[in-house]
Amino acid sequence: MSDDKFVIQSIGVIHSPHKEMSKIPIQPVFCNDIEGTVVLDIEYVDGLKDLQGFSHIYLFYYFHQSQKICLRLKPYLSDQKHGIFATRAPHRPNKLGMSLVRLMRIKDNILHVKDIDILDGTPLLDIKPYIQRFDSKKNTRSGWQDTITDDAASVRGLRDYKR
Ligand SMILES: C[S@@+](CC[C@H](N)C(=O)[O-])C[C@H]1O[C@@H](n2cnc3c(N)ncnc32)[C@H](O)[C@@H]1O
Repeated sequence: MSDDKFVIQSIGVIHSPHKEMSKIPIQPVFCNDIEGTVVLDIEYVDGLKDLQGFSHIYLFYYFHQSQKICLRLKPYLSDQKHGIFATRAPHRPNKLGMSLVRLMRIKDNILHVKDIDILDGTPLLDIKPYIQRFDSKKNTRSGWQDTITDDAASVRGLRDYKR
């Protein structure tokens, strides 16, 4: 294998009520209270020690149903094309997804989470804790996203999601 190719293996599976891709809200912030589970492969369960003390965790996963790579695209919140790396769209070269979800409880190898925006059956690649000291920034800019109002974002961000 060359130095720029890596083998990454899933470490579990993410389950959610989202069975239809086109109806999934586009970020956890639009998925308030939607529950899911993360089933970690048993061999990694030792790595969960002390995670229960964190209210939020990042899930990293593989957008396994993304069939293409688009370097320029119109993301859900915009009518303009943007570079893929200026968006969170799934059609990225390495198909890496990242969602910040609420950690409710852990039972054995199963993590119960809320605010999930991930398709049922998605392969899990990693879990990291949200750490306010490291991850919260003041005085930020959000590029083209700053041109979209919160109202417009919440309408378009929900897509067709119906409880
Ligand atoms: C805009 S992406 C953002 C995902 C993540 N929060 C991020 O920032 O990386 C969210 C959309 O990805 C799509 N999606 C979710 N799980 C997927 C999967 N396993 N494969 C392909 N697309 C998926 C759904 O259509 C969902 O609305």
